Amino acid sequence: MPIQIKNKELEYPHDFLNKIICGDCLEVMRQMPDGCIDLIVTSPPYNLKNSSGNGMKDGRGGKWANAALVNGYSNHHDCMPHEEYVAWQRECLSEMLRLIPDDGAIFYNHKWRVQKGILQDRQDIVQDFPVRQIIIWRRKGGINFNQGYFLPTYEVIYLIAKPKFKLAPKANAFGDVWEFTQETKNEHPAPFPVSLIERCISSTLARTVLDPFMGSGTTAVAARNLGRDYVGIELSPNYCEMAEKRLSNRVTDFKTSMVIQNAETQLSLSKWE
Ligand SMILES: C[S@@+](CC[C@H](N)C(=O)[O-])C[C@H]1O[C@@H](n2cnc3c(N)ncnc32)[C@H](O)[C@@H]1O
Repeated sequence: MPIQIKNKELEYPHDFLNKIICGDCLEVMRQMPDGCIDLIVTSPPYNLKNSSGNGMKDGRGGKWANAALVNGYSNHHDCMPHEEYVAWQRECLSEMLRLIPDDGAIFYNHKWRVQKGILQDRQDIVQDFPVRQIIIWRRKGGINFNQGYFLPTYEVIYLIAKPKFKLAPKANAFGDVWEFTQETKNEHPAPFPVSLIERCISSTLARTVLDPFMGSGTTAVAARNLGRDYVGIELSPNYCEMAEKRLSNRVTDFKTSMVIQNAETQLSLSKWE
């Protein structure tokens, strides 16, 4: 069962490790001690419904009619005024940065888009944070056909790292353009593919992994596949239940785990042993 945080003070690590916590991520993260998490992998709501593209805004059809996010998330409308959205995301990133130690890192996935004919990259969110690298997640195809620009087919993952962060041995060979097909067999409107998150986590020696916007639990599934501890935070009780359900399916996960360990990288966790 997901932990509900209403009227409850949580204790670290007992109430956090390998748990899905149902609540607002800022409220929950503020209850966690400094430096307690090695790695954060997350994808926030993109604020897609606050868009100059009217089809996305009001869902009145055209190319967006079948986009899963046209109705927003179950407990989040995804339509904040832009400045408010940027301030919120910066506050979340500051809190995340407090939670990682001097050798910790954050994989922060986001999407650039065109607004009123001009590229809206997410520099206003990440400005002044220690962005070390931008990884391109190349997806298969896209839906945003517009005569004014080429079909967008990638998302970005900002690697935000504290000074002593290092990759696992040989993980740098993955390069900075990663090709993973988007997830289709998941009822969440914007799920990560498990393999993408397994790539992020297995590229580090992190023992504990947090996702403050956990959605359907992909980061927790990937962390568990790789033998790491996770902390998941998610606002929507529906999505928390989805995550719990996926996590209870151990058999499939073990198979995935074997493939990852063999094919991608043989991790040495000796740093902690
Ligand atoms: C892009 S989705 C994450 C999907 C996830 N990566 C997955 O694989 O399923 C963003 C998630 O943030 C959640 N969310 C929105 N506001 C939140 C908040 N204040 N605190 C925690 N979660 C929130 C939404 O409900 C949504 O599930």
